[in-house]
Order: sequence, then C-alpha cells, then structure tokens
Amino acid sequence: MLRLFRQRQPEKSKAITPTELTQYPMPRHVAIIMDGNGRWAKKRGLPRAAGHRSGAEALRGVVKACGDLGIPYLTVYAFSTENWKRPQEEIDALMGLLIEYIEKELDVLNKNEVRIKAIGNLNQLPEKAVKLIENAERKTAANKRLYLQIALNYGGRKDIIRAVQQLAADVLAGKVRSEQIEEQLFASYLSTGGIPEPDLIIRTAGEKRLSNFLLWECAYSEFWFHEVLWPDFHKEHLFQAIYDFQHRQRRFGGLVNEENK
Ligand code: IPE
Ligand code: IPE
Ligand code: MG
Repeated sequence: MLRLFRQRQPEKSKAITPTELTQYPMPRHVAIIMDGNGRWAKKRGLPRAAGHRSGAEALRGVVKACGDLGIPYLTVYAFSTENWKRPQEEIDALMGLLIEYIEKELDVLNKNEVRIKAIGNLNQLPEKAVKLIENAERKTAANKRLYLQIALNYGGRKDIIRAVQQLAADVLAGKVRSEQIEEQLFASYLSTGGIPEPDLIIRTAGEKRLSNFLLWECAYSEFWFHEVLWPDFHKEHLFQAIYDFQHRQRRFGGLVNEENK
C-alpha cells in the first residue's frame, strides 16, 4: 500500500536519476517549447541574441539526453510563424544561430544516430539555412536512434490549413474520396504525419500556453510547465518532467483500470 502510494507522488525532493526512469515506460515523443532566452539575457544585461546562443547550448544537452534515455521522438519549437514580428536584428541573429547550429552539430548528431527533420514553412527562411537543413535531412535520413523534429517557421494553424489544402487538392484529383477523410488520414497530411503524437509537452519560462504549437497533435498530450528559463534547462529538468509524466494517469476519456489505481 505504502509502495503504491509512493509511486503516485508526482514531486520528488531529490534529483531523479535515469535509472529510476527506466522502471516505467518512457514517453515515446517529447515536444518542447523552448522559451525564456530573452529574459535570460536581460537578467544578465546581455543582448537577446546571447540568450538564443545559450539556448542552443541547452538544446544540445537535451538532444543528447533524449538519445541516451532511448526516447525515440523529440520535437523542438525553434521559430514560430509569429516570431517574424520580432525586430529584424533578432530574426537575423536567430537565423545565423540556426545555420551555425547545423554546421557545428551535424557530425555529432550523425554520430549519435539522430535523424533531423524540419517542420514548418522553409520557403521564407534564408537560402543558406534551407540548403543546410535539406542536406542535414538527407545525411541523417537513415539514423534510427532519435528522430529530431525542428519546428522552424512553424505554426499549428498554418500547418492545418496547408494539410486541408493538400487534402482538397487530392479530393479534386480523385486520389481521395471525401467520405474517406477521417482523423488518421487527415493527420497524415500534417507536417508531423507518420510520427506518434507528443506524449509530453514541456514549456519553460513560466508561460502556460501553446503559442500555436502542434495544435492538432496535442489533443491528449500531458503538459509540464516550469519557471526555468530555457538556457538554464538541464537534463535534470528533463528527468523531472519525465518522472512526473510517468506518475500521471492518462485516461483518454475512459475510466481508470481499477488494478492500476
Ligand atoms: C524563445 O525565447 C526563443 C524563441 C521564441 C525563438 P524568447 O526569445 O521568446 O525569450 P523570452 O520569452 O523573450 O524571454
Ligand atoms: C513560442 O515562444 C515560440 C518558440 C519557443 C519558438 P514565444 O516567446 O514566441 O511565445 P509567446 O509570444 O510568448 O506566446
Ligand atoms: Mg518567449
């Protein structure tokens, strides 16, 4: 009884170890809204770009940790369709960092058997970035350990509209009959088509909103919010998020199995 009670405690005061996490199933797909780079920089009197640079470092650590834990899918929100509203100087810095990240990391990612896939509308990104991304996607296509989706110029609503347009075109072309359209078929037209829905969505920096991320896919995701600013996010935060996830009950609208109580 006591053991069962303990198992259901969501918070632990001491740090969680990866070994503890292996006692329960891992989330198959973790998605992260990496927020708070600007605030991190501001706190230190640094330009916002410095926050984004430190944010890229944090991402490096999390990608490695997910691979080590055996999590098969990771999606990270790197640039939203709404982020174009930011000053040009910040956008340029972000694009520059993206290029730098791919150039610097590709070999390591490949060595760690990470497969890279960009989701979002790449057409509006600088040509150099698009070429590098496409090259990285090609070079890592056979990697099987971790599937890393990078949401770039991504917006959940735009992704849904694009899927509807493609589906409508296929109906018009006679490839799909309208009565065949159901959830699974529709989901296959999204940019995340073929990837399991996120089990766990993490957002840092204290905001509790989706900001247009994975709107269709998050229908039954578990959410984990934390005050930590993204550049300060370490693998221990990831372990805690996974631990909490593992101690929640997912019901999907059904009832809890009495035996699992
Ligand atoms: C997240 O950090 C990175 C991007 C949105 C590209 P922010 O830049 O949003 O940081 P805050 O929210 O201003 O602190
Ligand atoms: C969401 O963060 C987008 C990314 C992390 C890339 P924002 O900082 O853009 O979100 P809002 O503006 O606070 O909703
Ligand atoms: Mg923000």
